[in-house]
Amino acid sequence: METIETMRIPGHIAIIMDGNGRWAKRRLMERVRGHEKGSDAVREVVRSCRKLGVVALSLYAFSGENWARPKREVEALMRLLERFLKQERSEILDNNIRLVASGHLHRLPDYVRNKLDSLRAETADNDGMILNLCLSYGGRDELVDACRAIAEKVKRGELMPEAITEKVFEQHLYVPELPPVDLMIRTSGELRTSGFLPWQITYAEFQFPEVFWPDFTKQHLFDAIRDFQRRERRFGHTSDQLKASDTTEKT
Ligand code: FPP
Repeated sequence: METIETMRIPGHIAIIMDGNGRWAKRRLMERVRGHEKGSDAVREVVRSCRKLGVVALSLYAFSGENWARPKREVEALMRLLERFLKQERSEILDNNIRLVASGHLHRLPDYVRNKLDSLRAETADNDGMILNLCLSYGGRDELVDACRAIAEKVKRGELMPEAITEKVFEQHLYVPELPPVDLMIRTSGELRTSGFLPWQITYAEFQFPEVFWPDFTKQHLFDAIRDFQRRERRFGHTSDQLKASDTTEKT
């Protein structure tokens, strides 16, 4: 079905793009072919999210652990990222998308980091949609890095320990302005979060579509959003409380 209810579009969608290798293996192709096809799926999803009015889209493109993959595969992934940044530049600019990145970016090769840095700078004032590329990313790293930055401030006397609140903690994450994740999607049928945005996904709704990432289309995205729209998000409250506050808001 093509149509989608535009009233409750998830503000922040986070996607673990899994299954590129298995997609290729099934076709007796090299794993890298799966990543190439996966890049095409990235394009379609970015475009669709922008059109739907999604506020932020986070994509798990390369984890800290992925550095341990065969050199050839790592190199191919880096080249694909570079190509994506080059080919999508004008579309990102034309669509008022703000590109940000999360992770240990200093580990990326210069040819990727330079492109990333310049597109981040070029799009810094855009306010259409935040596209958060998670690169050399680890959720535990993000939390440890935030703790370290906070500890440094405490050491310098700029922050009192008792002033550390959730809000203050959030301000030390890689991209503090990211809203909480509403919908987390992991393709390929694997039922894990693999350290993806642990702080931000606390109250996310999860979807695990049984499709390898290269085959993920706009229709799968719409299906996930439609399912999200049917869920009751209670945030620790009871159903009755939510219904009562709904009525109060309307009166
Ligand atoms: C996981 O599948 C996927 C990755 C480690 C890389 C994701 C990269 C892309 C989709 C393409 C490049 C990204 C952008 C933003 C242009 P896997 O290789 O672990 O699959 P498997 O579990 O089937 O082996």
